[in-house]
Amino acid sequence: MLQINPLAAAISDTITMAKFDLTSRMGQYLDRHLVFPLLEFLTAKQIYDENELLQVKLDILSNTNMVDYAIDVWKLLYPNQEAMNERRNQVVSELNELTKSCAEITELMNDDKKMKKIETMRDSRTLMNFLQDEINCGPEKMESMYKMAKYWYECGNYSSTNTFLYFYTLTMQTTDKNYLNVLWGKLASEILGQNWETALEDLNKLREYIDSNTFGSALQHLHQRTWLIHWSLFVFFNHEKGRDLVIDMFLYKSQYLNAIQTMCPHILRYLSTAVITNRSRRNSLKDLVKVIQQESYTYKDPITEFLEHLYVNFDFEGARQKLQECQIVLFHDFFLIACLDEFVENARLMIFETFCRIHQCISIGMLAEKLNMNPEEAECWIVNLIRNARLDAKIDSKLGHVVMGTQPLSPYQQLIEKIDSLSVRSEALQHLIEKKLKARAHEDNRWGASEF
Ligand SMILES: *[C@@H]1O[C@H](CO)[C@@H](O)[C@H](O)[C@H]1NC(C)=O
Ligand SMILES: *[C@@H]1O[C@H](CO)[C@@H](O)[C@H](O)[C@H]1NC(C)=O
Repeated sequence: MLQINPLAAAISDTITMAKFDLTSRMGQYLDRHLVFPLLEFLTAKQIYDENELLQVKLDILSNTNMVDYAIDVWKLLYPNQEAMNERRNQVVSELNELTKSCAEITELMNDDKKMKKIETMRDSRTLMNFLQDEINCGPEKMESMYKMAKYWYECGNYSSTNTFLYFYTLTMQTTDKNYLNVLWGKLASEILGQNWETALEDLNKLREYIDSNTFGSALQHLHQRTWLIHWSLFVFFNHEKGRDLVIDMFLYKSQYLNAIQTMCPHILRYLSTAVITNRSRRNSLKDLVKVIQQESYTYKDPITEFLEHLYVNFDFEGARQKLQECQIVLFHDFFLIACLDEFVENARLMIFETFCRIHQCISIGMLAEKLNMNPEEAECWIVNLIRNARLDAKIDSKLGHVVMGTQPLSPYQQLIEKIDSLSVRSEALQHLIEKKLKARAHEDNRWGASEF
């Protein structure tokens, strides 16, 4: 099914000036409801014209059941015009119909005793039999539940969505025609309800299903993975274990790394941030930098460039400048703004550590300059690093020097690292040629645009 995504088109028209903003690229792979939090964030950051953002919001809202919200936005945009009310009647009559077809299910869900009994049932067959006895539940009633769930979702009532998907997710077989859609729908409504623990479970369930390779073509799998990568950012940058898990999925599951390199290299920003902000994952740096170099022809931003300057070119001045730009990028990124402080702290440490590998004795004044700090601040920072046993060094306050405890890299080791990166570059070229040969295609079977 080829369908141009109106949302992506609308956003990329309005948003071209904010150089590092990825919202329009990301919007292509997100359900329209998932774009809302991003738009709200952009509105607060005021980097775009307010009316243009409102127009994008209105375009998205007109395709949902959030009629009153749409009318509010309409009034802001066109204060002197009558708002459209027909849509509301349509939405209300749809609810009446669905309420009728789900009456028995709703009654069952309101029956605490029976619901308690259901909670004790462990397998889907027992539950299905129970539902058949109680409400004569068959494919038709399942379909009504599904439609009701989707209806509430379009209303922006994500907890009601989950209520109606409850029986469905407990009983559905992988052969169910709605199977994939239900998994996507469940994930979306858990994300929008900010239930990160359940969202992570749903994300894993969906990933296992996609990776089990039981449906569709290789291309369809690639697209499903691309969506999953984008949706997963909500979970990974909110769940407390997320920034660790994101590295395992994006960098070390080859099918996902392949999807990132083929479809969405801009995701490298998020992967890089996860690696940079976690000191325990420093051993992933080499693998990450290799990918960044391969992709530098198709994607770069201050964050990926920071790593390139530091670990490929050993260009400390370049890294310092990029670190400043990184702060602006993170500050304006919906997913990353919460990591800003950790990012700066760790990035400084990386500059420092790399610098120390090459120089054994460093003047604090020079170091302060490289880290965008004043000398007192820098000395204080280094003292803390030494105190917390994160750095093997001594400070000579009289001379204003830091003296490293460990041996720096020998010139020979440095040469080996350079050669390593040269062969990576030729690999990258080959990769690029392969990629040019692969055609891009669009496909539209998201929850947000499925066959309702
Ligand atoms: C969601 O819908 C239910 C009815 O199904 C209602 O009781 C509840 O108040 C709604 N929640 C929100 C946030 O609108
Ligand atoms: C960093 O990585 C370690 C080891 O994988 C993990 O235990 C920890 O939770 C991670 N920290 C963050 C902030 O993600």
